[in-house]
Amino acid sequence: MIALKALKPFAAGGNRWCYVDPSDSARCIKVRRPDFSIAERRRSKGFPKNLKPLSSFDDNLDEFNVMASLERHYDDNIFAHISCCFGFVDTDMGRGLCSELIRDSDGDVSLSLKQYLWENGYDEDCRSAVNALCEHWLAYRVPSRDLILHNVVVQREVSVPDAPKIQRLVVIDGVGSAGVIPGHLMPGFMQQKKAQRKVANIHQRIEDLLSDKAQGKGPGMHGFLFHSGQK
Ligand SMILES: Nc1ncnc2c1ncn2[C@@H]1O[C@H](COP(=O)(O)OP(=O)(O)O)[C@@H](O)[C@H]1O
Ligand SMILES: [Mg+2]
Repeated sequence: MIALKALKPFAAGGNRWCYVDPSDSARCIKVRRPDFSIAERRRSKGFPKNLKPLSSFDDNLDEFNVMASLERHYDDNIFAHISCCFGFVDTDMGRGLCSELIRDSDGDVSLSLKQYLWENGYDEDCRSAVNALCEHWLAYRVPSRDLILHNVVVQREVSVPDAPKIQRLVVIDGVGSAGVIPGHLMPGFMQQKKAQRKVANIHQRIEDLLSDKAQGKGPGMHGFLFHSGQK
């Protein structure tokens, strides 16, 4: 049993808290938020969604199934821009999902794309990293929900002071189809259309975030690290 309760999560999303794996600093463990159980999440949905089984509101289970399906049906290079998943572990906060923790070259946990854009703006380096991610999404026709800016992290090479370079963007949440048909079983042209929609959507989300910032709005609650010093 892995003890997480006494530790501080490095980040949180709407559904899960993320901890550095105490036995392997290259991995993270995601657990259900204790303040928002699966049952509460189901209750928060209106009719008819709240009729679905409890297991369908479990993000960890969902993500595990999606990752297993990607491993089975695509070549390994699909994970060049998707964090790898290592399966379930038992923790004192319930069942956790263990996955590749994305860190910059100096060991800091990588910022989400949302935090990166908020703090650095949409520089040239970031534009080409976003384009590389989009090309990958189209080449593999990766089945995914919308590429939300706090579900993408920016891995940087920071060894040259004052000139950090983005190595790659990595999607850490939201892969897989929301629908009943797994992505790889959809007809090819539908897979392609869907990937194209996701690519157009991330560009729109970036524009929206930049315009919120320009108008002096806040960045919202999610996608900012609690602290980045855990090495
Ligand atoms: N593998 C990872 N590497 C680096 N940061 C991560 C990783 N997974 C999650 N994070 C950070 O934690 C935040 C929340 O994680 P996420 O898996 O999206 O939780 P939720 O399921 O609640 O949305 C992300 O916005 C990101 O900043
Ligand atoms: Mg998320």
